[in-house]
Amino acid sequence: MDLALVPGSANYALAEAVAELVGEPLVECVREVFHDSEQHVEIRETMRGRDVYVVQPTSPPVDSHLMELALLGDAARRAGAGRITAVVPYFGYARQDRRATGREPVTARIAAEFIEDYFDRVISVDVHTSSFEGLFRIPVEHLSAVPVLAEAARPLRSPESVIVAPDLGAVKLAERYAVILEMPVAIVRKRRISAEEVTTGGVVGDVAGRAPIIVDDMISTGGTIAAAIETLTDAGCATEITVLASHGLFVGPAVKRLGGCGARRITVTDSVVVPGDLGLPVHVASVAGLIADAIVRLHGDRSLADLIAHG
Ligand code: R5P
Repeated sequence: MDLALVPGSANYALAEAVAELVGEPLVECVREVFHDSEQHVEIRETMRGRDVYVVQPTSPPVDSHLMELALLGDAARRAGAGRITAVVPYFGYARQDRRATGREPVTARIAAEFIEDYFDRVISVDVHTSSFEGLFRIPVEHLSAVPVLAEAARPLRSPESVIVAPDLGAVKLAERYAVILEMPVAIVRKRRISAEEVTTGGVVGDVAGRAPIIVDDMISTGGTIAAAIETLTDAGCATEITVLASHGLFVGPAVKRLGGCGARRITVTDSVVVPGDLGLPVHVASVAGLIADAIVRLHGDRSLADLIAHG
């Protein structure tokens, strides 16, 4: 089967970087958005019998990018593709994976159901929910950007560094960083008040005089990271504060919250487009190599075992 890399519009630069590493040109696609906000896509190359990878994070605007992903999958299927994989480096809606307070939908499942008819398989990176794979009826390859981010942080660590999970949900992630970087772990006790507001209840672990490396799957409105930094500072941590997050959305009040929060460096990946003019100390570590490696191995029916996020 011939390989075909189909770019969505959500992160064209990442698709280009992946194409460069895979050594295949991107397939030409056109996308129109009509005045009524409906979208139309067209793939301008044959898909007949090909092993197709549609690269499209469902980053904000989430609904529109999710729809475009489904449209590209359907277009490839109807054009006779042999096998179609959704490459979704950031999977929106993943945080809504259970009913928290009562009469709510399991939105992550709906997002999965919405796309699974158009694809044979999904690849994603550091998805918030550990139940991600179980949301789909089709096979899921859940990759981890932890090694990429840990290597980006390695030159910054010191004997006094400590990995910090900004909430209980990030403890397993923190442990993965701790193993790679050989550091102890501390945990901030976070409580979410609303979708955009959090409060904390102290730190578990020794952070006094230590340089924290706070790790999370994503930065959305920045509330979690800002609250963690405030708590760590109150607990007497050193001023060299580093943040590592797989997905940097920086939406809503994120720039204001993180602007004066004291983080010396915030490293995220290019799973979603990170604007260059945020005015924050943001560095970007690319997951293009990780994704290209996964695509090349899948195309050759080779194992992904060492690229997979466990736990
Ligand atoms: C939630 O548990 C996630 O792991 C992140 O901590 C959270 O989604 C980040 O969102 P925000 O930046 O809005 O606090």
